[in-house]
Amino acid sequence: MKRDSFISRRNRLFALMQEQGGGVAILPTAREMTRNSDNHFPFRHDSYFYYLSGFTEPEAVIVLVAGKTGNRAVLFCREKNLEREIWDGYRYGPEAAREQFGFDEAHAFGALDAEMPNYLADAGTLFYSTGADNNLDAPLQNWLQIVRSKARSGISAPDKTVDVRCLLDEMRLFKDDSEISAMQHAAVISGAAHARAMRFTQPGRHEYELEAELLHEFRRRGAQAPAYGSIVAAGANACVLHYQANDAAIKDGDLVLIDAGCELDSYASDITRTFPANGKFSGPQKTLYELVLAAQQAALECARPGSRYMDGHNAAVRVLTQGMLDTGLLHKDKVGSVEDAIADSAFRQFYMHGTGHWLGLDVHDAGSYRETVKIGDEKPWRTLEAGMVITIEPGIYVRPAEGVPEQYWHTGIRIEDDVLITADGHLNLSRDTPKTVAEIEAEMQYSERNGNDGRH
Ligand code: GLY
Ligand code: MN
Ligand code: MN
Repeated sequence: MKRDSFISRRNRLFALMQEQGGGVAILPTAREMTRNSDNHFPFRHDSYFYYLSGFTEPEAVIVLVAGKTGNRAVLFCREKNLEREIWDGYRYGPEAAREQFGFDEAHAFGALDAEMPNYLADAGTLFYSTGADNNLDAPLQNWLQIVRSKARSGISAPDKTVDVRCLLDEMRLFKDDSEISAMQHAAVISGAAHARAMRFTQPGRHEYELEAELLHEFRRRGAQAPAYGSIVAAGANACVLHYQANDAAIKDGDLVLIDAGCELDSYASDITRTFPANGKFSGPQKTLYELVLAAQQAALECARPGSRYMDGHNAAVRVLTQGMLDTGLLHKDKVGSVEDAIADSAFRQFYMHGTGHWLGLDVHDAGSYRETVKIGDEKPWRTLEAGMVITIEPGIYVRPAEGVPEQYWHTGIRIEDDVLITADGHLNLSRDTPKTVAEIEAEMQYSERNGNDGRH
């Protein structure tokens, strides 16, 4: 991603800060987490911090000074350290980082305590997300205390705090061209990984073997990591919504649900496909699969500017609920009409999650799902606009219960795509991932059943 994208985002934030009379924004990156002794969990930078900098090293803080005489973008980061670089790899150091990432000033991370009281003196408004980083809240209190202690010299501490993340949430909701291009690429890689896992699937293989195929495809195509823990769930495991064990053997007759997406250049993809372990949907599996597919189609039709965020969910719920009545999952004599079953949430026995979320730097991305202004007593659901990216992910999960036809027991199905809202509708970023019954069954013909291990 080009340096100018990050500079222009900082300038947009500066403009928002100046609209509020100016002030100082403080945004730390994530903390490195020790796993044991000198061993760390994999580091992932903070998404707000990255959004404004493109900088991926730990121990770094952005300070934006929106002053009366102009704006200054300041980066605090680790100093060069040849000894540590022998062990851990390259560090920019403040001077090279300032140059490379387009900041006006840069200082050593260790200089925060010395420098921050100067930035905070007479700042007016503090743009900071209190409670988001325990490790910065305490030093910030000290810096503010130092400024307050100078009151008799006529220096004032900030007298107002604005949550800077709220300003950034709104910006992050609308993706620019460089973000869309990263997200499109991420979705293509994830789609290829899903197709590879389908081709590799055989009864007798284990869920973790499919997880390994996904990871192999992510990494060999340049994605840095999974964007979240991959769900590979065969048979009854597919009814566990956040299944993570991925350790069961896959049986003939199982459906396999895979919810997995890579992170590419800090941007997430999030795709779910469900397919038969043996390459052919059974009659009951096909009935429920096509029901979920129809629900997804109904939700996709709402993915356009002017729709409300919840319209897609409501459309999917209507199709699913009608299908539950048609297939005998729900019984009219118990739940009444489709309207009654929706009003009383009877459908939640088999569909208990929402139909999507914002997607971007984070898999469940930043941004408010409600408008800011109330209509009557309530803030309405957000209106979709061009540049937003959402997932559309209806499903159906059938656990054994009295009155539920046995042929559907232990079936879990979800179909999830990543969708960019455009000026005249939407673009499905994950459109190339096999999805219809015919496409999935054709993809699976490439498998080892025909003397091919699917790894092409
Ligand atoms: N994979 C997380 C989700 O679908 O929301
Ligand atoms: Mn997902
Ligand atoms: Mn999702």
